Amino acid sequence: MRKKVSVVGSGHVGATAAHWIAAKELADIVLIDIVEGVPQGKGLDLLEAMPIEKCDCRVIGTQDYADTGNSDIVVVTAGVPRKPGMSRDDLLSTNYKIMKDVVAKVVQFSPNCILIIVSNPLDAMAQAAYKLSGFPRQRVIGMAGVLDSARFRTFIANHLKVSVENVTAFVLGGHGDTMVPLPRYSTVAGIPITELMDAPTIAGIVQRTRDGGAEIVKYLKTGSAYYAPSAAVTEMVEAILKDKMKILPCAAYLEGEYGIKGLYVGVPVKLGARGIEQIIEIKLTAEEQEQLNRSAEAVRELVRVIGV
Ligand code: NAI
Ligand code: 2OP
Repeated sequence: MRKKVSVVGSGHVGATAAHWIAAKELADIVLIDIVEGVPQGKGLDLLEAMPIEKCDCRVIGTQDYADTGNSDIVVVTAGVPRKPGMSRDDLLSTNYKIMKDVVAKVVQFSPNCILIIVSNPLDAMAQAAYKLSGFPRQRVIGMAGVLDSARFRTFIANHLKVSVENVTAFVLGGHGDTMVPLPRYSTVAGIPITELMDAPTIAGIVQRTRDGGAEIVKYLKTGSAYYAPSAAVTEMVEAILKDKMKILPCAAYLEGEYGIKGLYVGVPVKLGARGIEQIIEIKLTAEEQEQLNRSAEAVRELVRVIGV
């Protein structure tokens, strides 16, 4: 039987994630949104692309959560995106209300699914979904690190004029201004970037990575990035559906790992059929740990506001 992925929120990120997932023929897809007609229209349009793409994915759009029943994965992109001048944190109360509504319905119809949370502020929304769903932490995962690392990798590859395929990079911490790109663990064909670029150049790339979301918002003016975010979602979906045991940076609920307890923060995890198969603990310098702690503290403040 084919796998089933439901995408809640059929806006920019949701619809584009559905597009990538269908183009890779990873699963049948259910698009859902509160705006009547939008998921139906986008779903039908995408379905009609399948003969051209030579893919047999079934795609439907709906307002009815019963259609999402028994999904293997549910991706939650429902919410409002930021506008110029807004931080991700400005979205907190609106998106928390949406998360309460969405998670209850998802859990009712897909009690065994894996939840991938995308809505911002990401770490706080993942924590909300974890608490609201009652799922084990393995099955509630936040998407941010794959995106932030992809931005870091893009800027490294551009600067060194090498293939993006040669570049690996890690970004830890919360998905916000305090995120922690890790140059020591970022490599080009296995060579640490600290051997290939001077400190001011690396610092510039690190800052551009931290500002990566805002850079796009400034251009778009009416919304935020969606091609790279939805590609990041798709890499996580693929790792889970194909049980790849792929190590990717994701927001996970920490229970003492990295000295952090009871909080969603971005860390390297192994993704497989059961969701988070393992949280990978890498050695950090005192300065890196300090930055991670600061980032976690920023997430904790948001989580306190919504009381999850
Ligand atoms: P969008 O505005 O294009 O789409 C959001 C969709 O959610 C809309 O179609 C809206 O009707 C729908 N929606 C609102 N309330 C709903 C509900 N109760 N049930 C079902 N659907 C509902 O926004 P976009 O650009 O797709 O972004 C979605 C969210 O993802 C935003 O919060 C944004 O900040 C976040 N985001 C997070 C990223 C990350 O790295 N974690 C990256 C990019 C976006
Ligand atoms: C981004 O980083 C808005 O969180 C989103 O592009």
